[in-house]
Amino acid sequence: MKRIGTPHEEDASGAKARIEYVGKMRGLKPPPPSESSYPAAFQAARIRRMSPEDLDRVMEIAASLKDAPQWPREAYTAALDMDPNQDATPRRIALVTDGGQAGKVMGLAVASLIPPQAELETIAVDAHYQRSGLARGLFAELADRLRLAGVTEIILEVRASNERALGLYRRLGFVEIGRRPGYYQAPAEDAILMRLELEGFEPEAAHAGKP
Ligand SMILES: CC(C)(COP(=O)(O)OP(=O)(O)OC[C@H]1O[C@@H](n2cnc3c(N)ncnc32)[C@H](O)[C@@H]1OP(=O)(O)O)[C@@H](O)C(=O)NCCC(=O)NCCS
Repeated sequence: MKRIGTPHEEDASGAKARIEYVGKMRGLKPPPPSESSYPAAFQAARIRRMSPEDLDRVMEIAASLKDAPQWPREAYTAALDMDPNQDATPRRIALVTDGGQAGKVMGLAVASLIPPQAELETIAVDAHYQRSGLARGLFAELADRLRLAGVTEIILEVRASNERALGLYRRLGFVEIGRRPGYYQAPAEDAILMRLELEGFEPEAAHAGKP
């Protein structure tokens, strides 16, 4: 998403540790009965803040996805919420979704914020678990936390050819607000700029009208 996704600052913490059970809270699609590779733990999937122990797995997921930004480890470390001052507004919020208990991390999302604006810097789901609503659940939780931090709009940039990401963002209600010709390199490609107003955003509503 970001061409150079390297956070430069340490984060201050504002978000309280909060666990939400994705399947229960966000209306995840149940696994198809015929899908034997679907992990049983998925039903207990939860979203929580990214921790230093997650970083090997987070980097493994990013490395396995050609469209995911490849951040150096230090960039993720800088995005973690490690400031003991729980009242400060965080400058980044980094979340993962895992299978509950000791379940492995299946996806991640990171946003930077300077209220009232935030930028969705990366969102990625292990290919094995894609198209099950995990990215939507991650984004919904991120949006809740950003709202609490005083954010009213989220912007992002995405490669023009990244159909999966564009599909996700449009489903979430992002609208295209511009284009940066040749913004990305290797391969050279335009960036599409998108924006979402958080007022009135309801993740479930993003699914309204879907058969
Ligand atoms: C983009 C990505 C994060 C989506 O994750 P996901 O967990 O599969 O997404 P969800 O299951 O929550 O899908 C939500 C919506 O996104 C859209 N979407 C997801 N995958 C799609 C695809 N392959 N084609 C078109 N639309 C897609 C759909 O509208 C979908 O809703 P639906 O399944 O009810 O139709 C995932 O494909 C990914 O990790 N891609 C590689 C990394 C990347 O490109 N990240 C974005 C740039 S940082």
